[in-house]
Amino acid sequence: MRTTQRAFTPRRYLMCPPVHFRVTYSINPWMDPGKPIDLPLALAQWEDLRDRYRALGHTVEELAPRPGLPDMVYAANGATVVDGRVLGARFAHPERWAEAEVHLKWFRTHGYAEVREPAHINEGEGDFAVTASWLLAGRGFRSSPLSHAEAQEFFGRPVVGLDLVDPRYYHLDTALCVLDDEGDEVMYYPGAFSAGSRAVLRRLFPDALIATEEDAAALGLNAVSDGRHVLLPQAAVGLFGPLRERGYEPIGIDLGELLKGGGSVKCCTQELRQASSSPSAGGQ
Ligand code: ARG
Repeated sequence: MRTTQRAFTPRRYLMCPPVHFRVTYSINPWMDPGKPIDLPLALAQWEDLRDRYRALGHTVEELAPRPGLPDMVYAANGATVVDGRVLGARFAHPERWAEAEVHLKWFRTHGYAEVREPAHINEGEGDFAVTASWLLAGRGFRSSPLSHAEAQEFFGRPVVGLDLVDPRYYHLDTALCVLDDEGDEVMYYPGAFSAGSRAVLRRLFPDALIATEEDAAALGLNAVSDGRHVLLPQAAVGLFGPLRERGYEPIGIDLGELLKGGGSVKCCTQELRQASSSPSAGGQ
């Protein structure tokens, strides 16, 4: 049990309101086009998340939603930003292809000088997670292993590839969450990973918080931490106690409507990581 309060740092996030959210196709096991969506409720739940971030002192930028792109609300998939450098996305499924360009355009018109259109398939922060020491990178369902090398070269950070094996956890951010990005602390669900990747995770993060299948199935790992506050699906009740024991403040969020598209808190939140004092990236 940790008694001192954890420090947190103000963050910048990019979010996209679910104005055109629908489930009209199925590209992950959570999506059932036959199930009705309550759009006003989806919007209210999304606004609640946005307002929570702002109340905690974080900045939330909003990306304008486009009709015909129902998955745009899952803004985390549109790019990865580290040290102010932007690696755009290239989506695996044609239904989402057009989202990549919208994100690239947003960065190009918002003062980001280093914006790369990727050569290989990667679904942004859906599959890339940033810790103090590494860029963790998921593969198996969406992002191509080739994108891992591309990200390593672009960001100048060591990439650790992790194999996802359970279709319910098709993106890394459905199975693993970085709790402390200054101290390499994570929580994850081992069942989502291959045996070899589980061994890698044990080696890199021997003190990780291990989630149960029940909490993973509530998408409890699709969470966002600022170093102290951890915003996570409220149904993942088993994670609250262990998070508190480690000195975090869990904040339960209800994004029940957006769960029908296969995403929750983290999927809706892309982090805009500014340039830091770390060694410069990109082979300079
Ligand atoms: N319907 C979207 C898809 O399957 C959900 C994406 C969720 N985002 C995430 N970061 N896991 O692509």
